Amino acid sequence: MDSVLRKEREGTLTESNQRTFSFLKPDTVKNRFVGEVLSRLEQKGFIFKQLRLHQITHKEAESLYSVHKGKPFFQELVDHVTSGPVVLMILQAPDAVETLRKVIGATNPLTAEPGTIRGDLSVSITANVIHASDSVENAKRESSIFSLDTS
Ligand code: CMP
Repeated sequence: MDSVLRKEREGTLTESNQRTFSFLKPDTVKNRFVGEVLSRLEQKGFIFKQLRLHQITHKEAESLYSVHKGKPFFQELVDHVTSGPVVLMILQAPDAVETLRKVIGATNPLTAEPGTIRGDLSVSITANVIHASDSVENAKRESSIFSLDTS
């Protein structure tokens, strides 16, 4: 059996075939950019292991963004991600966590480079198209909030 397939079945994925958690924010669904963003991710080589439309609850949003609790933008962020459906994703690629963050671009649209998803598709720091976990540990924690699994 192919070794990657074997590792996948054994649940012992290495960094060369890593999984991460991401979701398309409500602005992306409202602005009809879902196809555009999924297409970019597909063209880059990401494999969609799980994909699900979901309405994030306030409880889930507060848990997801608990590290930002107390910051001035926290409430606006929670309000935005609960304002409409999102697209939850588990994505697989070599070094998926880092690769995805590069493809997405900087959080602030002012500094997100043209060619990145946020650089091309957003002007708002809150409604900034897509969220992606910043580490393997956070991908595990964040995906579990939605009963998804990166292993
Ligand atoms: P996201 O990748 O979902 O992670 C945290 C979010 O907080 C971030 O994208 C932004 O949408 C939002 N946010 C709003 N204001 C700020 C800010 N000043 N600094 C960082 N993140 C911010």
